Amino acid sequence: MRLKDKVAVITGAANGIGKAAAEVFLQQGAKVAIVDFDLEAGKQFETSLLEQGYDVLFIQVNVADPSSVKLMVEQVIDKYNKIDILINNAGITRDAMLVKMKEEDFNQVLDVNLKGVFHCTQAVVPHMIAQGYGKIINTSSVSGVYGNVGQTNYAATKAAVVGMTKTWAKEFGRKGINVNAVAPGFTKTSMVEKMPEKVLNQMESIVSLQRLGNPTDIANAYLFLASDESSYITGHVLHVDGGIMM
Ligand code: CAA
Ligand code: NAI
Repeated sequence: MRLKDKVAVITGAANGIGKAAAEVFLQQGAKVAIVDFDLEAGKQFETSLLEQGYDVLFIQVNVADPSSVKLMVEQVIDKYNKIDILINNAGITRDAMLVKMKEEDFNQVLDVNLKGVFHCTQAVVPHMIAQGYGKIINTSSVSGVYGNVGQTNYAATKAAVVGMTKTWAKEFGRKGINVNAVAPGFTKTSMVEKMPEKVLNQMESIVSLQRLGNPTDIANAYLFLASDESSYITGHVLHVDGGIMM
C-alpha cells in the first residue's frame, strides 16, 4: 500500500493513461477523484470502481475552464478534506503540418494541455501548502522534448509543461511539495490510434525496446513520483518511452 490514505486528483482519468493510473493508485490504497470531460466514460468507470469497493469520486470538468476547475477542487475538499496528489494528465492532440494548422486548433491544444495544467495546479496548490505536503506530476511528452512532425501546437505545450514543472519545483520546494513531470513515449491509447499506420510503424522502430508503451507503464511512473519513495526528487522529467530519449 504505497499510497495508503492519500487523496489523489487525476485529470483525464476516464480513459487511457489516466484511467490506468486511477486503477494503480486505488490498488495502492489511495482515494481518487476521477476528473474528466468525458461524462459517459467517467460515470461508467466510477460505477465499476464503486462496485469493486474502491473510494472514488467522478467529477465532470473541463480543465480549460478555471471556474469548472475551482468547483471540482471544492467538491474534492468537501468529500475528502485534503488533496495530497495532483496528476495533470488530461491532454488532447490536433495534429497538422505547420502550414495547414488552424489558429483554432493551436488555441484548443494550448487551452487544455497548457492552461489546464496551470488552472488545476493553481486551484490545488493552496491546499497542499496549507498541509505542508504535496506531490504534483505533470504529463509532458516525447514530442515536447524531441519534437514531432505535425505537432507544433502539442509539442509547444508539452515543452511548456517542463518549464512550469521546474518553476513550481523551485516555488514550492520549501513548502514540502514535490513537482515532477513524466514524458511518455508512444503509448497504446486512443491518442495513438488516430495516427497514420505508416507514421506509427516508423515511430515504433525508433524505440530501443521495440514496442509501444502500455498505459500501465506510464501509470507506474506516476505511482513512483506520487509515493514517498521519490521524496528527494523534484523538478525532474522522467522519460518513460522505451528508450527514445536518453
Ligand atoms: N515523422 C516523419 N514523417 C512524418 C510524420 C512523422 N511523425 N508525420 C507525417 N510524416 C510525413 C508523412 O509520412 C508524409 O510523407 P510523404 O510526403 O513522404 O508521404 C508527409 O510527412 C506528409 O504527411 P501526410 O501526407 O500525412 O500529410 P497530411 O497533411 O495529410 O497529415 C499529419 C499531416 C496530420 C501530421 C499526419 O501525417 C499525422 O497525423 N501524422 C502523425 C503525427 C503524430 O506523430 N502524432 C502523434 C500522436 S500521439 C501523441 O501525440 C502522443 C505523444 O505525446 C507522442
Ligand atoms: P486519451 O485521449 O486516451 O485520454 C485523455 C483524457 O483526457 C480523456 O479521457 C479525455 O476525455 C480527457 N480530456 C481531454 N480534454 C479534457 C478537458 N478539457 N478537460 C478534462 N479532461 C479532458 O489520451 P492518453 O494517451 O491517455 O493521454 C494522457 C496524457 O498523456 C495526455 O496529456 C497526453 O498528451 C499524454 N501523452 C500521451 C502519449 C501517448 O502516446 N498516448 C504520449 C505522451 C504523452
